[in-house]
Order: sequence, then structure tokens, then C-alpha cells
Amino acid sequence: MAEAADGIIIAGAGQAAAQLAQSLRAGGYAGPVTMVGDEAFPPYERPPLSKDYLSGKRQVERLFLRPPAFWAEKQVELRLGRRVAGVDRLARRVVLDDSTALPYAKLVWAAGGRPRRLSCPGTDLAGIHHIRSIADIDGLKAGLVLPERRVVIVGGGYIGLESAAVLRSGGHHVTVLETQDRLLARVTASPVPQFLLNLHRGHGVDVRLSTGVEGLTGGDGQVAGVRLSTGELLPADLVVVGIGIIPNVEPLAAAGLACPDGVQVDEYCRTSDPDILAIGDCALHPSRFAPVPVRLESVQNAIDQAKCAAGTILGQAEPYTAMPWFWSDQYAVKMQTAGLSIGHDTQIVRGAVGVPPFSVVYLRDGRVIALDCLSCPRDFMQGRALVTGAVAVNPIRLADPTVELKALVPA
Ligand code: NAI
Repeated sequence: MAEAADGIIIAGAGQAAAQLAQSLRAGGYAGPVTMVGDEAFPPYERPPLSKDYLSGKRQVERLFLRPPAFWAEKQVELRLGRRVAGVDRLARRVVLDDSTALPYAKLVWAAGGRPRRLSCPGTDLAGIHHIRSIADIDGLKAGLVLPERRVVIVGGGYIGLESAAVLRSGGHHVTVLETQDRLLARVTASPVPQFLLNLHRGHGVDVRLSTGVEGLTGGDGQVAGVRLSTGELLPADLVVVGIGIIPNVEPLAAAGLACPDGVQVDEYCRTSDPDILAIGDCALHPSRFAPVPVRLESVQNAIDQAKCAAGTILGQAEPYTAMPWFWSDQYAVKMQTAGLSIGHDTQIVRGAVGVPPFSVVYLRDGRVIALDCLSCPRDFMQGRALVTGAVAVNPIRLADPTVELKALVPA
């Protein structure tokens, strides 16, 4: 019992959870580590779900971050197919959805998020898909067995655009609906959305901006059409919904922790309860790269926060200062983002807009805060140091693509 009480419970079994367990063991933690995950699989990579797993280029076993035997070797217990349903902070124990109670010395919340659902009539029809888990993609692929399906994708964010590229490349008829007046509005600024719009339209995707969904229609319980905010009815064999995620933090909120948008943590990944930490997609944290606390939905953040939390638990606390970065593959274009462009006041394009390779550099008060690099890995690799150092740059040299970004990094 004393040993169990010393243990670490990780709520979630995704990328952040996996990294935390590994970092704890690598850092010499010898007590019990238990990961509780509501999916049937050991920790796996999510980025390929909307890319190579959807296209069929990657098999399921190749998504796993580690072979299943690895977790047994490291004495990390996986409780799969289970969810943490409640947290008793006074007794320091969690209760699972099968009523099992597990004590903890430290609880690390790495439960990620779930896809936001449409709230219009018709969402109970079959043929409506989300993209978050292996099971989601398996269900979607089953609906794509016939050729030239008419697919309506709701949401022009990462999920919508990556899946549009894969499905269009697979010969399906694809329409993307986006309520904003530009694509990928959450994370990029002009001219990148216009480039993406041209890219998708050039591949034959019907992209509708400033367009929402009024309802889904169907017959025999199967979706057959999407009623748009314009009144038009689009025929659809399948609907893919990618309109963002909702952080899975309800048990923490019910236990009294502040969860304004995800659970609030400090720069050491600690919540206001000293025995509960949070990492990954569900953690709202201060960042030196943003003017306000942020919740980052990325592999980089999951891994780096997990390492930070492990350090905190092991008594080697170091603040979380990693630079955010993201990537997306659409057709042959690789988009890489470094930093966060929130609050930029100037942007400078390197190269010819719309003709990769080109990059957009975002500045605030003359200092580099972010870059979007379109099939331009060199700018991404070299420009990261400009973001990390918030370097003040000469805008004329910055705009000259023949000047390498490393030449602008102070010695
Ligand atoms: P997102 O937040 O990136 O994009 C959602 C989009 O849907 C936004 O453009 C929003 O304006 C639009 N939208 C919202 N409500 C709508 C409605 N009713 N009708 C039409 N459009 C609507 O979220 P997304 O694409 O669902 O991605 C989910 C998660 O997966 C995010 O955490 C994302 O970061 C992650 N992801 C990241 C990838 C990457 O980094 N390459 C790839 C795929 C997913």
C-alpha cells in the first residue's frame, strides 16, 4: 500500500503520457507508474492519422510510439480501455469509469481533448466522422471503400485541410466548409491562408469560406446532404468534421481546479494542487512566446511539457521555455511553423508569395516572433534561433531570400 501510495498515475495514454513515463524512468524514478487511457491501443502518434494512416501508406503497428513489450520492460502499467472519471484530491486517489480507485502520490493529467461536435440537426446520422483516434480513421476508411465518394469536410483547420489533401489525392470529390473568411485562421495570417486556398482549389477541392452548416440531412439513418448557411443543399456520402477540440478536463474542474480553457498550470506544469500536474493539449500554460497563457495542441508541446513535468516530480524543476513549433503536410507542400504569431504587427515575406519555397516572418516591435515556412526547411531550421532569441532584425535583409537567416542571428 505504501508503495502504491508513492506511485504516479498518468491520466491519458498519448504522446505526452508516453514521454512522461519514459522521462520518469530515465530520471531514475523507481516507484509505480500507471497510465490510464480510454483507447484500446498503447501510446501512438496522432499526426499520421490525417496523413499517412488515412491514405493507407502506414499500418497501425507503425503508429505505436514503442512496441507494447517496451512498457512492460519499463514497468509502466497500461490500463487501456479505461478513463479517469473522478479525482478525490483529499484522499489523493482517482476513480476510473469502472469504479476502480487508484491512489497516487502525484497525478499527471495528460488526457488531451476530444473533437468538438456539430450542434445542428442531423448529427446522429451515420456517415459523420471525426479525426482524432485510430478508431475514427478506421471508421472513415470503411466509408471510403467505393471510389469517388462525395465528401463534405466541415472546418478549414489542420484536420480539414490535411484530410482534404489525402481524400482529393485518393480521387474523392471534396468540399471544405469554413466559417471564417480564410483557411487556418486560428494559427496563420495572410498571405498563408490565400496560398492554401489556391493550393486546394488548384487540386480540385471546392472550398467555401464564410460558410457554416445549418443541418445534416439523410435517409435510412445515413447522411446524404449538408444544408449550408447559404441555404444550399450539398449532396454528401460522408461528412468529416474538424472544428477543433475540447480539452478533457472535466474531472479536474469537478475537483475544484481552475479550468478556463484546459487546466491552468504554471511554468513547471503544476496546477494549483501541488500533487497534480498537467501536460499536453489540455494544459493552459504561461509561455514566453505569447502575451497570454496558451494551450498548445502539438507534438512538440506534449513532449517538452512531459520532460518538464518529469523534472518537477524528480526534484529537478526547470521552467518550461521550449519554443512552440508545428508542421503540416498537404499534397507535396510541407508547412512548418516556429513560434506563435499572436500579436504580430509586421510580416515580411521571403521569396515569391504563393510559389514554394517561401516563408512569412512575423515581427512584433521589430523582433522576430514566428515564421511560417512553405516547403522551405532551410528557413525553418535557421529561423528558429531568431524566434528563440526574439532577435531584432534588419527588415530589408530579412526580406531578401538570398540572405540566409543564420546570417541574421547574433553571434
Ligand atoms: P482547428 O482549430 O485547427 O481548426 C478548426 C477550424 O474549423 C477553424 O478554422 C474554425 O474556424 C473552423 N470551424 C469551427 N466551427 C466551424 C463550423 N461550424 N463550420 C465550419 N468551420 C468551422 O481544429 P482541427 O482542424 O479540428 O484540429 C483538431 C486538433 O488536431 C487541433 O488540436 C490541431 O492542432 C490538431 N491537428 C494538428 C495538426 C498539425 O499540427 N499538422 C494536424 C491535424 C490536427
